[in-house]
Amino acid sequence: MPNHKIRVAVIGGGNMGKNHMRNYSLLPGADLVALADINPATKILADEYGAQYFTDYQKMLSETKPEAVSIVVPTTFHAEVAEYAMKRGIHVLLEKPIASTVKEADELIKLAEKNSIIFTVGHIERYNPIIIKLKTMVDEGKIGKITSIVCKRVGGFPAIEPKTDVIIDLAVHDIDIISFLLGKQPTKIFSHGSRTHHTKQIDSAEILMDYGGASGFIQANWLTPVKIRTISLTGSTGYLEGNYITQELEYYKHNMIKTPNKGFSNFVTNMGEPKKEVIKVDFEEPLAVELKAFLARINGDKQSHLVNPRDAREALRLALEAVKKYE
Ligand SMILES: NC(=O)c1ccc[n+]([C@@H]2O[C@H](COP(=O)([O-])OP(=O)(O)OC[C@H]3O[C@@H](n4cnc5c(N)ncnc54)[C@H](O)[C@@H]3O)[C@@H](O)[C@H]2O)c1
Repeated sequence: MPNHKIRVAVIGGGNMGKNHMRNYSLLPGADLVALADINPATKILADEYGAQYFTDYQKMLSETKPEAVSIVVPTTFHAEVAEYAMKRGIHVLLEKPIASTVKEADELIKLAEKNSIIFTVGHIERYNPIIIKLKTMVDEGKIGKITSIVCKRVGGFPAIEPKTDVIIDLAVHDIDIISFLLGKQPTKIFSHGSRTHHTKQIDSAEILMDYGGASGFIQANWLTPVKIRTISLTGSTGYLEGNYITQELEYYKHNMIKTPNKGFSNFVTNMGEPKKEVIKVDFEEPLAVELKAFLARINGDKQSHLVNPRDAREALRLALEAVKKYE
């Protein structure tokens, strides 16, 4: 049935699940039918959006029969819940990281293929308008051959202590984005981590990835007192700088000094005031873009770009490798 409202449900109504509920409730293509969460305090969220509430997701799936689900439970339960939904022919948007282990990820990918399930993973930054624009600019060769991509994803310690470390929780976004922009996977990965406020896990990390001719560097932490989410790309003919939060994007053309060196003031003018262009992108909530793409694909739109779960599997594999290298 093309272009019909999709019956959707959400499993897990915590921090991130709340955002899935809000966005589905606003999307004309979605009919938000239910929320399942083991914590009865989340019933209020279901009530807010006129959705049925269940404590048991299995009961919810069999009683409300959604066509698609967002699975937003803690990562340790991703594989179990996604497998249950896929076995019942339900399309799945699974939050990132895809699973706890690469083996679990492989099994989910296999099951989705076997059961013809539309399966994607919530690598939300892929849907950020600045990343969509950056990918086009990179593929058009706007900055020539990329030599490095540097990402910063830092901020203060969360109110509730994260259950995982900062690489699996935060840096996995940037690992995915760097590979996506370069169109390949790294051949080597190096990492360093430290623990300051977390009682068990590393809460500050730096990762360096070697893509052969290009490198990716990530700083991720729950330590810096200000929230920063940036990306910069250096290429042979230009430089791009993006801010995930404000969705601002700036482009600098390579500024080779062609005039003879006329002293320091000439040097400062040339290098200190390069040609800058502000690239306009239309501000949009990345999760709304992601959910719309998921619904469109279910409705048969093959042009609708979704994160391939194999890319999510690679991001998890690399993140686990970075953790292991540090340990
Ligand atoms: N894409 C992003 O930017 C982003 C941001 C935050 C979190 N996440 C991901 O979303 C997932 C959830 O994270 P969160 O921060 O919302 O966690 P959370 O702890 O705030 O919420 C998880 C919810 O799942 C419920 N739950 C646990 N087991 C369940 C089960 N078996 N059945 C039904 N409900 C169950 C809990 O009661 C809780 O309400 C994680 O995988 C996390 O990595 C993604």
